[in-house]
Amino acid sequence: MNLAGKKILLGVSGGIAVYKSCELLRLLQKKGAEVRVCMTDAATEFVAPLTFASLSKCPVYLKNGAVEARPFQHIDFPRWADLYLVVPATANVIGKFACGIADDPVSLCFMSCTCPRVIAPAMNVAMYNSPAVKRNLEILRGFENTTVLESPAGELACGEVGQGRLMEPAEIVKWLEGASLPLAAAACASSATPSPRGTAPKTPAPAIPVAKDIDPTKDSTLPGYGKKVLLTAGRTEEAIDPVRYISNRSSGKTAVALASVFYANGFSVEVVAGPMEAAFPGGVKVTRVKSARDMHDAVMERLQEADAVVHCAAVADYRPAHAADEKIKDSRSQLTIELVPNPNILRDCTAARKAAASSRKQVIIGFALETDHFEKHAAEKLAKSGADALLLNAPVAADSGFGRDCVRFALVKQGSPVPPLAMGEKVDLAETILNFCLERLNG
Ligand SMILES: Cc1cc2nc3c(=O)[nH]c(=O)nc-3n(C[C@H](O)[C@H](O)[C@H](O)COP(=O)(O)O)c2cc1C
Repeated sequence: MNLAGKKILLGVSGGIAVYKSCELLRLLQKKGAEVRVCMTDAATEFVAPLTFASLSKCPVYLKNGAVEARPFQHIDFPRWADLYLVVPATANVIGKFACGIADDPVSLCFMSCTCPRVIAPAMNVAMYNSPAVKRNLEILRGFENTTVLESPAGELACGEVGQGRLMEPAEIVKWLEGASLPLAAAACASSATPSPRGTAPKTPAPAIPVAKDIDPTKDSTLPGYGKKVLLTAGRTEEAIDPVRYISNRSSGKTAVALASVFYANGFSVEVVAGPMEAAFPGGVKVTRVKSARDMHDAVMERLQEADAVVHCAAVADYRPAHAADEKIKDSRSQLTIELVPNPNILRDCTAARKAAASSRKQVIIGFALETDHFEKHAAEKLAKSGADALLLNAPVAADSGFGRDCVRFALVKQGSPVPPLAMGEKVDLAETILNFCLERLNG
């Protein structure tokens, strides 16, 4: 999304991270956006409304503000906005949003706005992991037009360590800039081999974004109508102790591109997602997991119903044999962590498909991230996996990979030679997989 000229309503609720929304406001303005602010009473305890009014050059919408002068602020502000950002979102307002309570400016605007809503939670790790907050965030993820930004883990204002930090203002701006064009990002540098866009058969349906108020899964003219895709996304975290884990750098952007492209083409999209920064569009059903074993169980539970299964997650091959119950103390002596293999989700899916021996078609696609001997490794992995195809990608090249919009990739089909890697946007990669699935399901 180009932020220049956008009208952004910033909802501020009462957490320690309120001061960061001042920085966010300034960054949005620097990008050319016009910002107005509404605040809860608790938020005004942390930063005076005068600060926001001065920065935004507009009166702040407050519960006990000048009601006589502007009686319909709870309608006017959201109607004015192209986008409603709630930063920071407290556990309290998240609960209100999820339950339909609208008794303060921030929750009133949430309920009455019809523009896209983006929520950045921030709270203590215990609050973030509480069953109520988890449930409420899950409810919000299911709301139309609503995106919940992933809260990064790290040191919290209260001194504890864990998930619950506010996504940094600069990161929020970066995410917004990519949000409506994550799949139509600037063209990638071309490579010696032709881009896969153009070599793959084009689908008749539009790519993303899907206009709000449109549910593509109900459109019988779309090629994915009546079909379901199951995606895995993000990375996994394998606990070493309560505060440490083994993981990797996957951002989840490729899975978001896949979810968006399949959804825009009429598929019902269900995602089993590990931790990741990128956010899914509304209309996509997301189940959150942390470890490879949790992801395995969640995928196996959903496997039968899926017409297509795309294993995009960067799953840890190994986990610590034992996760310590208490934080491992620094004794300055050498520490050895024994690792044991995690279940192979892709292979278990293809084995389950074989065992079911159903006449129903099901397409299964794996991902192979390779850093050397691409063709050899991909061919071996595909043969062992029993999948229909493997998406070979090489994200370590200087111009492609983790967190970026471009990637070097090739779709390796069972029984066909490995094609050369080509540079493309992640949306190209997603369209290549979509086209392969449609060919197999309809052919
Ligand atoms: C110093 C302090 C810091 C707080 N930080 C947070 C926070 O980061 N996140 C949160 O959800 N609640 C936090 N709270 C609790 C909220 O302020 C409290 O739940 C309040 O009722 C939220 O109101 P609101 O959601 O209407 O803004 C904090 C409270 C105090 C006193």
